[in-house]
Amino acid sequence: MSTTFQIDTSTSRANPTPAPMKRLTVPRIRARKKDGVTEEPLVMLTAYTARQAQLLDAHCDLLLVGDSLGQVIYGLPSTIPVTMEMMANHAAAVVRGSYHSVVVVDMPFGSYEQSPEQAFENAATLLKASGAAAVKLEGGEAMAETVAFLNSRGIPVMGHVGLTPQAVNVLGGYMARGRSDTEADKIVGDAKALDEAGAFAIVIEGVVEPIAIEATKAVTAPTIGIGASAQCDGQVLVTEDMLGMFERVPRFVKKYGDIATVISDTAAQYAGEVRDRSFPGEEQTYQPKK
Ligand code: KIV
Repeated sequence: MSTTFQIDTSTSRANPTPAPMKRLTVPRIRARKKDGVTEEPLVMLTAYTARQAQLLDAHCDLLLVGDSLGQVIYGLPSTIPVTMEMMANHAAAVVRGSYHSVVVVDMPFGSYEQSPEQAFENAATLLKASGAAAVKLEGGEAMAETVAFLNSRGIPVMGHVGLTPQAVNVLGGYMARGRSDTEADKIVGDAKALDEAGAFAIVIEGVVEPIAIEATKAVTAPTIGIGASAQCDGQVLVTEDMLGMFERVPRFVKKYGDIATVISDTAAQYAGEVRDRSFPGEEQTYQPKK
C-alpha cells in the first residue's frame, strides 16, 4: 500500500490529529499508469460522510462521492433524482474528513449533458462548494467535447463508460454490457474518446472482462473497474456494498464485512437494555458531587 499513516480519530470527532500528510493530486493519479502499465493498482471507494472518509482515507488513493448516495443514503430508486445540493453537501463532508485521497465528486444527472458550458458552471459550483479536486461524469464519445472543455479550464474529469446508471432508462436495466460486437465496439470507442479528450482516469462499470481489458489496453489513462476485470488499472466499489450493509448486491460485489448484522444486533442489545432498564447504568449516569 502506498499510504503510510493512520489518522488518530480518538481526539475529536471533527478534527482528528495528528495533522495530515500531503494529499495526493490528480496528476499523480494519472501518472500511476506509465507506458500502459500500472504497477500499483489504484484503490478507490465511495464515501458520503466525514466519518466514513476519515476511516477510509488512509487506505485509498481516491474517494468517490458517488451519486449512488441517491440509493445508499436517500433510499431513492435510482441515481436520476440526485441533486446538485446533495452532491455538494456530501462532497464537502468527505473533503473535511480526508487528508490523503483525491476526492472526486459525481456530477448528477441533468447537470452536465446539455452543453460544455452547463457542465462547466455546475462542475465549478461543486468544486467551489466542496473543495473536491475533480468531477466524474457518465458517457463516452458524446461527452468528449465536454471533458476537453472542462479539463482545459481547470477542472479534471474522471470518465465513466459501460454500464452508466444514469442512463438506466435508455439501457433498460443494470445488466452487464459489452456482450454484442456493437456494444463492445462502443465501450472501447467511448473509452478512447474520453482518453483523447483528457480524462485523467476512466471508470469501466459492468462490462464483460475481455472488453474491459481491451479498453484498458486502448487508453493511456488509468481505468478503474467495477464489475469489469482485475486487469483494470484500479478498482472501485460502493463502500456500503463491500461492508455488507445490504442483503442484495450486484454480482460483482465482494462482501468484506457484515455491517448490517453488527448494526442490527447492536440495536437489539440497546433496545433490550432500555426495556429492562439496565441502560443507562451507573457509569453512564451523572450524580450530584458529594
Ligand atoms: O455513484 C457511484 O458510486 C459510482 C461508482 C459505482 C463507480 O459511480
